[in-house]
Amino acid sequence: MQRGLVRPDVCATDAELIASAHYGLEASAIELGSNQDRNYLLTSSDGTKHVLRIDNEVFTDDARDGQHAALDAYRSAGVPVASVLPGLDDALTQRWNGFAARLSEFAEGEPLVDAGYLAPGVIREFGALAAASVNALRSVQHPGLDRDHMWDMRVAHRETHALAPSIADEGLRERILGAADAAWQAVAPLAETLPVQTIHGDLTDDNVMGRRGDDSRLHPHTVLDLGDLAYGWRVAELSVTLSSLLHHEPSRPLRVIEAIEEFHQDAALSAAEARAVWPLTVLRAALLVASGHRQLEIDGENDYARERIAGEQAIFDAATAVPLEVATELVLASLGYQGVAVGAELKLVAAPPTALPAAGADAGPLRALLPGLVGEVAVIDLGVESELLDAGTWLLPDAEERLVEQAFREGAAAVVLPYGVYRLTRGEMNSVDEPKTWSLNSEIFLPDPTPLQVCAPVPATVESIWPRGVVLEAAHGWRLVISGFFPDVASGDIVAAGAHLGHLAGDTSLHGLTVGWRRGDAWAGEITPLAQATAQGERGGVQAGQRLGTSLTTPSLVPAWRRFTYDPAAILGLESHTQRDESADEQLRRERIFASAQERYYERPMQIERGWQHHLIDTTGRTYVDMVNNVAGLGHGHPGVADAVNRQIRVLNTNSRFLYRELAEYSERLLAKLPAGSGLDTVLLVNSGSEAVDLALRLAQAATGRKTVVALREAYHGWTMASDGVTTSAFDNPYALSSRPDWVHIADVPNRFRGTYRGAAEDRSVAARYAADLSVDLDRLADEGRDVAGFICESVLGNAGGVLLPGGYLAEVYRLVREAGGLCIADEVQVGFGRMGSSFWGFEQSGVMPDIITIAKPMGNGFPIGGVITSKEIADGLASQGQFFASTGGNPLSCRVGMAVLDAMENEGLQANAERVGKRLIAGFTKLAERHELIGPIHGEGLYLGVELVRDRETMEPATAEANAICERLRELGVIVLTTSERSNVLKVKPPLCLTEESADFVVAQLDRVLTEGW
Ligand SMILES: Cc1ncc(COP(=O)(O)O)c(C=O)c1O
Repeated sequence: MQRGLVRPDVCATDAELIASAHYGLEASAIELGSNQDRNYLLTSSDGTKHVLRIDNEVFTDDARDGQHAALDAYRSAGVPVASVLPGLDDALTQRWNGFAARLSEFAEGEPLVDAGYLAPGVIREFGALAAASVNALRSVQHPGLDRDHMWDMRVAHRETHALAPSIADEGLRERILGAADAAWQAVAPLAETLPVQTIHGDLTDDNVMGRRGDDSRLHPHTVLDLGDLAYGWRVAELSVTLSSLLHHEPSRPLRVIEAIEEFHQDAALSAAEARAVWPLTVLRAALLVASGHRQLEIDGENDYARERIAGEQAIFDAATAVPLEVATELVLASLGYQGVAVGAELKLVAAPPTALPAAGADAGPLRALLPGLVGEVAVIDLGVESELLDAGTWLLPDAEERLVEQAFREGAAAVVLPYGVYRLTRGEMNSVDEPKTWSLNSEIFLPDPTPLQVCAPVPATVESIWPRGVVLEAAHGWRLVISGFFPDVASGDIVAAGAHLGHLAGDTSLHGLTVGWRRGDAWAGEITPLAQATAQGERGGVQAGQRLGTSLTTPSLVPAWRRFTYDPAAILGLESHTQRDESADEQLRRERIFASAQERYYERPMQIERGWQHHLIDTTGRTYVDMVNNVAGLGHGHPGVADAVNRQIRVLNTNSRFLYRELAEYSERLLAKLPAGSGLDTVLLVNSGSEAVDLALRLAQAATGRKTVVALREAYHGWTMASDGVTTSAFDNPYALSSRPDWVHIADVPNRFRGTYRGAAEDRSVAARYAADLSVDLDRLADEGRDVAGFICESVLGNAGGVLLPGGYLAEVYRLVREAGGLCIADEVQVGFGRMGSSFWGFEQSGVMPDIITIAKPMGNGFPIGGVITSKEIADGLASQGQFFASTGGNPLSCRVGMAVLDAMENEGLQANAERVGKRLIAGFTKLAERHELIGPIHGEGLYLGVELVRDRETMEPATAEANAICERLRELGVIVLTTSERSNVLKVKPPLCLTEESADFVVAQLDRVLTEGW
């Protein structure tokens, strides 16, 4: 077997000669990269492309025939391949100067190796392709495939050792060999049981040509380069593919597990194969690095090899970033394999033993461990939904200690922070990566001084001791790790349940014990922090008041750690609080009961169960910057609103036909928000924006005695019959334009960026032209006897992504409508209420005053409140239609909430914040637009912004699929932003008004990252 091969001595001119002489092709040749062969791209004068491959001399004709058989097998299985084309003499292999040359079809597409980020769906497709490959090749047999070659994973360990001397850097060499040895140690016991068949052997992002899908992502498509085709382990096909995916996001290597899941669905992996996948991925990575260094050593001019070394190193670093055992357990968990490895088998293990009654379990919580404990035990919930962590207290650096102290003050004798809870207290704001939130131990806190004795809760053998802890070996291979006390036992001691282990010192203030079950060796690294802490002083080095703390893991690793660890609740005499991510179950549950027409965000939604300010937090403690919740204008979880609800609902909540102070008080506060001299003096309160719009339309019709309402195209105003009547957005409802009721007239949308008339903000002629068209419409309506009752529009085109109306448009249109005897309705449900920053109302941007204003969303910060503001004269028109009454509209509770919202907006200066942070966002997005062509116009004011994504700034072709994919990726990076507009190509930015500059910068940085890396 040869290691490190020099490429055939053939140049581009030779390639052109071969093309002409053997294939009748007059073409120009450009060399493509290869480690050991020569590949040329041939372009004929008519533009037709082919690839000419000159094999390394090690390849035999037999091997080539084997490859041709494999191509046939791929084709009949429907796997796209680039076929080998016959020469002028009909032979597939041509001879030139002793070399074997073959011509292949050119696979159209984009190389996947150059793609930055790969979306989860794309990663899955790689898994499916690897499965399709092994399925297609299963019965391909050919003598030429039974060949020795260095990329055969069966010999990868040996090969890595053989090549490693070429790695000059000793540290790197040791790392490579160490990882290869560990991987081989994991694979060797399984080797005999791993199925062998024909495999492609190099099914990487380099050898699969990508095609752009409708979703704008690059998807794996055509299988190329069968140079490594041979018999090999079936699972190696997958590992090679996986390793090639790792460099696309090296910081998150475990994302590629999705490819394993997909492979498993189509080509079920045995338990042994599942255990071999990750070690083989590591081994492949080690071999790649070693071989890359060797290649350069012997063929220093191979630029291709030189360029690739960084990528190969990234693959290795990613593959080894997670301990081998953890990655393997995660693979097993994701494929649904239970049990622990015994040789090549997986055997189910019993749960760890529970505390025996003899050891005091019956005597109450913690008594099996601490029999001398007297008093109550408090268990503190640090989970995402814990009521103890409201009002942002979870962000305090000592949040956990405060809760423990509080429990002591309330009389607890011991306090437990349980195992297996996703701790909100460990959540991190503005973070790209998921934090370590899931606790691997139960922590027990005891007040000072507590010189209690610590006993063995289960029978065990003392495996090891440290100055401040023990590892006990208990039944079924489980070890109980107890730390934070002075052991009086020695390694090797056999202890019965209830036997004395040691004692707590009298200086235990706020750092009691940590207790956890462990299995296997993957947890060994955890001991280090403890050992370090204890190495410092005579009595263990831990100072009074210092907390040992617990080990935690990230949500993605929980499925693995659940297999190494176990909840110690049973030996502590406590209930289990272990949590798991239930978002997938919750999604299924919701789909069962939710109407299909009801919308949902995200391809795979996270389960959000807490919000705080402008952050949303999922059930695993991962936080996201929330850029879409304009309803929570003040921010999530606002204590002022919570207090208002709590207080008022205990005192009074009745309907507005009774007399109570809150109704007038709130209405007056709303009226006070209007510009001076508005002429509007009447408020009608309802529960939502749709109701407000519905009522506004009724008011206009009642007050004018007319029916016709003019609405703008591409608008959304609500879901009730009337508000839906003026909802003209064909994105929300594809039939919108053809199915409007006869009382609705649709006018052109004055979008100066992509509408009928376009122009600069200061170009007044744009507005004039839209207004002139509307004037024609109004005349025609009058001629048809359909005099206009009202005109409704958003004062800033919210549904379009915050597009500001052309200067002068609203003033002129209001004038025309009023001249025609109609009323002007401003829908401020989205854009009003301080969001514009520079003005409280959207209509103020246009210097106009409407006759009727609709408001809702942020009025109650999530509590359902809507309203209409108008003049008494207009409102009185309603009397012609009988009484008006809404059961919960304007009740004391909603009025109190409404006032709490106004108070907070004023006290917290939120409108000013919207102006300041909005400007910063606009500046950030504008800067990004200089570097990213995809960014078109940036719309809006304050904190109602839209980043319009276009494929071409001239044609404004909407980048709808890209926008969706970008939102999906941003979510992975901790940002919630979604699309809006008729073309769904605008990133809508309408966060709670408390958005900070820090979070705004974070969002801009992440958008930059996504636009740079791809989506
Ligand atoms: C401009 C506008 N008007 C009215 C509504 C309807 O409000 P609601 O959903 O509270 O019924 C919406 C909702 O998105 C809206 O954006």
